[in-house]
Amino acid sequence: MDDRPDTRPEIEPYYWDLEGNWDDVPIINSKDKPDLIICDPPYFDKKADEYAKQSISGLSKTDYLKFLERFFLFLKKISKKKTRFVFINADWRDFQNCPADKEDPEQAVLLVDYYEIVKKTGWTLTHIIQAPLSSERFNAGVVAAMQKKKILGVVSRYVMILK
Ligand SMILES: C[S@@+](CC[C@H](N)C(=O)[O-])C[C@H]1O[C@@H](n2cnc3c(N)ncnc32)[C@H](O)[C@@H]1O
Repeated sequence: MDDRPDTRPEIEPYYWDLEGNWDDVPIINSKDKPDLIICDPPYFDKKADEYAKQSISGLSKTDYLKFLERFFLFLKKISKKKTRFVFINADWRDFQNCPADKEDPEQAVLLVDYYEIVKKTGWTLTHIIQAPLSSERFNAGVVAAMQKKKILGVVSRYVMILK
């Protein structure tokens, strides 16, 4: 989201505001429709402290899911028949602190919750690709802490391909 017009002019930062009407998004007036849309949103409130203040990771679970539903409908509006929509996501659970038998499903946002929204908004799933977390991210220290607290870890992201 850093604006770097000198080195990466093709990256145009844009903040999606849950309250906004999204009529001013540049692509709305474009004659060309995208071939590919890649969406890699925050996985609920994970890393909320690291992202900008307006990040959707600051939303409640209900608003976060509402935002995605509205966003996926918007993407349909700007897509053509052959557009492929790639959605990167991961199960959100408190997998760094919460022992497995104390996990509260009301708090979690799982792959199936994302899938329900993509389905409801009219996208059709063609592939799910598993993208395991790297050993930098899922290192021995993290694993040892999980063993100690009897945590069942989240070891992968998923890439859903939709049309
Ligand atoms: C999982 S990261 C994606 C990182 C990206 N794939 C990359 O390689 O830089 C999620 C990103 O979504 C951005 N984000 C969160 N809420 C947003 C919003 N309302 N509008 C635009 N971007 C948002 C965050 O700032 C963060 O950079």
